[in-house]
Amino acid sequence: MGILTYCVLLFIFQHLTSAYDFREGLDNNGRYEFVKDPSLNIEKRSAYVELDQFDSESPDHIRSRRSADQGDCKSLQGFDTKLTNNTHTFSFNDLSGSVSLAWVGDSTGVILALTTFQVPFFMLRFAQSKLYRSENYGKSFQDVTNLINNTFIRTEFGIAIGPENSGKVILTGDVSGSLGSRIFISKDFGNSFEHQDLPFNPLMQITYNPRDANVLLVISNTNELWLSEDFGENWRKIHDMVCLFKWGMDRNIFFTTSLNGSCNDRGMLDLKGTTDYGKTIKTVATKIFSFGLGGKFLFASVMTGTGTLRVIHVSTNQGEEWNMAQLPPVGHEEFYSILAANEDMVFMHVDEPGDTGYGSIYVSDDRGTVYSKSLERHLYTTTGGDTDFTNVTSLRGVFITSILAEDGSVQSVVSFDQGGEWVPLQKPANTKCDSTAKDPDKCSLHIHAAYSTAMKLNVPMLPLSEPNAVGLIMAHGSVGDAISVMKPDVFVSDDGGYTWLQALEGPHHYAILDSGGLLVAVEHSAQLIKDIKFSTDEGQCWHVHQFTSDPIHFAGLASEPGARSMNVSVWGYRDSLLSQYWVSVTVDFRELLTRTCEDQDYVQWLAHSDDISDPNDGCMLGYKEKLLRLRKASVCWNGRDYEVNKQPTPCPCTLDDFLCDFGYFRKENSSECVEQPDLKGHILEFCLQGKEELLQTRGYRKIPGDKCEGGTQPERKEINLSKRCVSDLLGTQELPMDGDLSSSAPIVVTVLIIVLLAIVAGVLIVKKYVCGGRFLVHSYSVLQQHAEAQGVDEPLDSNHTQTSNVADFHDDSDEDLLE
Ligand SMILES: *[C@@H]1O[C@H](CO)[C@@H](O)[C@H](O)[C@H]1NC(C)=O
Ligand SMILES: *[C@@H]1O[C@H](CO)[C@@H](O)[C@H](O)[C@H]1NC(C)=O
Ligand SMILES: *[C@@H]1O[C@H](CO)[C@@H](O)[C@H](O)[C@H]1NC(C)=O
Ligand SMILES: *[C@@H]1O[C@H](CO)[C@@H](O)[C@H](O)[C@H]1NC(C)=O
Ligand SMILES: *[C@@H]1O[C@H](CO)[C@@H](O)[C@H](O)[C@H]1NC(C)=O
Ligand SMILES: *[C@@H]1O[C@H](CO)[C@@H](O)[C@H](O)[C@H]1NC(C)=O
Ligand SMILES: *[C@@H]1O[C@H](CO)[C@@H](O)[C@H](O)[C@H]1NC(C)=O
Repeated sequence: MGILTYCVLLFIFQHLTSAYDFREGLDNNGRYEFVKDPSLNIEKRSAYVELDQFDSESPDHIRSRRSADQGDCKSLQGFDTKLTNNTHTFSFNDLSGSVSLAWVGDSTGVILALTTFQVPFFMLRFAQSKLYRSENYGKSFQDVTNLINNTFIRTEFGIAIGPENSGKVILTGDVSGSLGSRIFISKDFGNSFEHQDLPFNPLMQITYNPRDANVLLVISNTNELWLSEDFGENWRKIHDMVCLFKWGMDRNIFFTTSLNGSCNDRGMLDLKGTTDYGKTIKTVATKIFSFGLGGKFLFASVMTGTGTLRVIHVSTNQGEEWNMAQLPPVGHEEFYSILAANEDMVFMHVDEPGDTGYGSIYVSDDRGTVYSKSLERHLYTTTGGDTDFTNVTSLRGVFITSILAEDGSVQSVVSFDQGGEWVPLQKPANTKCDSTAKDPDKCSLHIHAAYSTAMKLNVPMLPLSEPNAVGLIMAHGSVGDAISVMKPDVFVSDDGGYTWLQALEGPHHYAILDSGGLLVAVEHSAQLIKDIKFSTDEGQCWHVHQFTSDPIHFAGLASEPGARSMNVSVWGYRDSLLSQYWVSVTVDFRELLTRTCEDQDYVQWLAHSDDISDPNDGCMLGYKEKLLRLRKASVCWNGRDYEVNKQPTPCPCTLDDFLCDFGYFRKENSSECVEQPDLKGHILEFCLQGKEELLQTRGYRKIPGDKCEGGTQPERKEINLSKRCVSDLLGTQELPMDGDLSSSAPIVVTVLIIVLLAIVAGVLIVKKYVCGGRFLVHSYSVLQQHAEAQGVDEPLDSNHTQTSNVADFHDDSDEDLLE
């Protein structure tokens, strides 16, 4: 351990090859994939890590953690025999290299396991798939490969499980030698399959309409968009040259198409929409770089005029009307990304010019048009789309992400108020600062997320939280001034990220069971594994259960999505004479937690609170929530039907419950919104839906989702926007398909570039867009007093050509556009 020098992740600059705006995070929808080769999982990673990661761990079976309401860890009486009686091992007579698992339905216990075996064999390929099905949460499987007539299934598409509890399953087969493809579909939770031959070859996994499992949509390998309304029986081609599609609300489908026949022709794509499954198709917008959907918002990044910059337009009514988002435009090398979105608001990442690897997070208002800057130097690499941004789903308003500090180190920050303010994570009480810390007593916790995984650090799992396991977070991390590349440990928070505890030493796979009543973990190591660790008190005390006497090579931990199960499967493989075969060991913890939890097992807990005596304590977005939580000392079963019992009470409003509206900004250290001086006396013109709007503002607008009542209510003033305005970049009615460029009405953009040197938490930015397209100013309000403003007035497009192509309803706006 001598080389514990100052050691932080080095940021690697890589050139951007293809930018996709609106990257959306992958979510684990209950599909797991494991591979056999341990060198893939571990040795490759260890190349980047100091090789002390296989230090033998202390062998104590119970770790001692003190907590407020509990003494030292007590051993659970006789758990070993109870668990041993409920441990089920299943060996697969299968030599495949990878296995994909999918849970079919909710509480059905049905799991499909698909294994594939492929050998490239001189021009030919020998490939085989096997399908297994379990009906008892993985305790035993049946080989049902005959149901798919021994067809090879394309594993890269995996198992497509229908939405809700539809019980629908699609497997995409690879029938060599035929023109089309064959799919296998099941309507009865994988009990029986039928095959359908497709008149095309899919390019991707077939998708379900999230609200109607009978409607399927897929792009073919010749970029045609195909739709089926009867669960795969009949297929209809909707459109040619489709680059990307997304399901909108109800029956809405949005897709981009290329006129030239190349999806690389970015910035020249058309965004089209259909509300009747393709019978009528409307062009929603043109000159599209890319588009995205998040919550109720439809975003499109649109090229501006003849420049190379693009700006975001947003629609909250499925493309009927568009507004220009008050966000900085980006050039060809930069991107936008929707980090998270719901019905109230969106977190948007805007990449910084140049290959910096960072950008800024903006949070939107409820219209998606006015944005506040939330965090600067937000880590987001251009390649691979790696960001650590994590919605902590176990506590309202909490988000964790990483910033790229000026010294190149990666540091974690947390926000407890939906992006209002970002702070470092508190140092866990039971830890010491590592060598990245300058001061050995003062440092913070740093969380490993997607970026560390992409950097191939030894981080087997992303941070984990579940809505029904209130306040719980499990994550890998390190304690210092910045994230360390050394072997990470597992940390647990039980209050939504305010305080943390080091729970396990070294990297682990982990899972949350029984709505947080039970945590399980298996060590991630190159050695053979025989133990599973579990905790009944939110990660303070851990017990070890030996699940097998014949240790296995560990591949992964699998449990039913939703964290309500009590069954968890350890997947791995054993060496046999010829090869290695898959083993799954399922432990049912139901016997361990012998009784069902009763009223006295729960205590009241005020979220976001550290001082219950303060009447305003715990207020978050205008209300506080009292919750019933399981006592840590209670060893009992929450049960499948457990519901989080929330009692919300509204808080009185303060100015902090409001954003500064369009044309207003907040001075440093002040909650007050003041009118931007250069706008004083002007009529505030704000383009909403390209037509006149009443702007009802005194500078304040409720933060989206804020439910405060009474208290400070900023006075409201109505301003009649007498001038019409038009965002000329998008036509909301049918646009001419030949897209005459000169039809773009002129737009002159003034960009005020302010160099920001420090991370300013909670800075509100207000930008103005004065209708008539005369100027757009980004006013980084709080920094006005001390930031260096290197403003350049840069007309991006001074093409004032007037054409008659602008749709009629914009009539008198054209006058405004011309001076
Ligand atoms: C384990 O199972 C056996 C047979 O199913 C049963 O007889 C025995 O009592 C069980 N042991 C415990 C500790 O539950
Ligand atoms: C399997 O093949 C048999 C005989 O060719 C056929 O009747 C059956 O429908 C096929 N099953 C599936 C699921 O394709
Ligand atoms: C696409 O087509 C337009 C007009 O037909 C042409 O000007 C443009 O160069 C083409 N772009 C590419 C990438 O082929
Ligand atoms: C974060 O996750 C919670 C719980 O799943 C969800 O209710 C909320 O809308 C999410 N927030 C955002 C901004 O996506
Ligand atoms: C665990 O699996 C058994 C079937 O083997 C099932 O009856 C039981 O409901 C499962 N427990 C939970 C909590 O899912
Ligand atoms: C704002 O508060 C910070 C810290 O309390 C202080 O350093 C700074 O000088 C204040 N700024 C103004 C303009 O008052
Ligand atoms: C707003 O101004 C327009 C034109 O000046 C006028 O026609 C309209 O009635 C006004 N609307 C309201 C609500 O005052």
